[in-house]
Amino acid sequence: MKPDIQPSDLPILDLDAVADELAASGRQVKVLWQYPGSLAFVAKGRDYRSEFHINASDEVTYMIRGTMRLHHRTPEGEESVAVIPEGSTNWMPPNTEHSPRFPSDSFALILERGRLPGEIDRFRWYCPECGVLIHEEEFVVDDYTKDPVSKAYARFFDSEQARTCDECGTVMPRPDQQIN
Ligand SMILES: [Fe+2]
Repeated sequence: MKPDIQPSDLPILDLDAVADELAASGRQVKVLWQYPGSLAFVAKGRDYRSEFHINASDEVTYMIRGTMRLHHRTPEGEESVAVIPEGSTNWMPPNTEHSPRFPSDSFALILERGRLPGEIDRFRWYCPECGVLIHEEEFVVDDYTKDPVSKAYARFFDSEQARTCDECGTVMPRPDQQIN
């Protein structure tokens, strides 16, 4: 992918304007730049975000608009929530299982690094009833403009088998089947 912004540009971007552009576009993600040492994108919230993402990059979040509830799992498998208010920032170490939950009128700036050759991003869903892992998707994220999160969602929600807990039989509903 040829980036819009060249290194010599020393880009300065108005985050409110990027959020407005993203809201108008109907897309989930606007990549600002993408280089081996720095990947920056603005993400629009997903009302029904349910999966946990695992990747080998550090991750910095800055809330441009709205509040994020950053669900994350400890190495012992405990779920915890970090609340990041508008105008605040957070750092997460590599390989933290995390699920950034914020509404669709909210926007976050995310800073990572590009993936190294062979690195794999993982997306995991846990049973809402009994808590066991029910499904995992793997992606090689060579280009973040391909919106790997949306692709992982499509694969998961299109398969009832993927959404069914082998342990207790609970079926995680598709977003369009959820009340709120
Ligand atoms: Fe279950």
